[in-house]
Amino acid sequence: MSLTVALSKGKLLSGTQELFRGAGLPFPDGEGRRLVVPMGDLRFLFVKDWDVPTYVEYGVADCGIAGRDVVLESGSDVFEPLDLGFGGCRLVVAVPSGSPFSLGSASTVRVATKYPRVATEYFLGRGISVEAVRLAGSVEIAPGLGLADCIVDIVETGRTLEENGLDAVETVAESSARLVVNRASFHARRAEVQRLVQTLEGAVR
Ligand code: PRP
Repeated sequence: MSLTVALSKGKLLSGTQELFRGAGLPFPDGEGRRLVVPMGDLRFLFVKDWDVPTYVEYGVADCGIAGRDVVLESGSDVFEPLDLGFGGCRLVVAVPSGSPFSLGSASTVRVATKYPRVATEYFLGRGISVEAVRLAGSVEIAPGLGLADCIVDIVETGRTLEENGLDAVETVAESSARLVVNRASFHARRAEVQRLVQTLEGAVR
């Protein structure tokens, strides 16, 4: 039986394709609409990026590729054996430029974010009580419109923050694309999983 690999068609797809091709592994063209694609020794599932850890945790996929940000937020119980070295970004706290709001003096904060779990843990860890307002995207507009004091979001180039009048004030976590592996598959299909890990590791280097 082939190993099943969950991938997203989002931002990590081109880096994933480059990595697999560089490693000499099969990879679908990406042109078609099929979401389950068997190829050589592998079977690929194309799902939403936020769903990759879920497919892997439940064992529908043996492994998957997801951003560390997404894995952290999912809270999924999966192995994360390999940093794939692309898709680098930071999860940051950002506040409106020139805003009087300061994390240093705040005892409570309202944060708009796609990452309520990560944001809540971060602020609670600093002794700040937190109300996380979950948004699906475009979180940068929330503080200016009075929905939140700050945001916790991904920064890649910094352009979105800049163009929306926000400053990154703290880094919550560094992120990049990770190989994630189902815990049962990691043991039950050890040889195949190890072969995939080593092949990808060679291409990352
Ligand atoms: C992500 C993130 C920021 C932007 C950061 O958004 O949420 O908005 O990219 O990139 P930058 O630092 O290079 O400007 P995404 O494109 O995923 O869209 P979304 O806001 O709708 O989730």
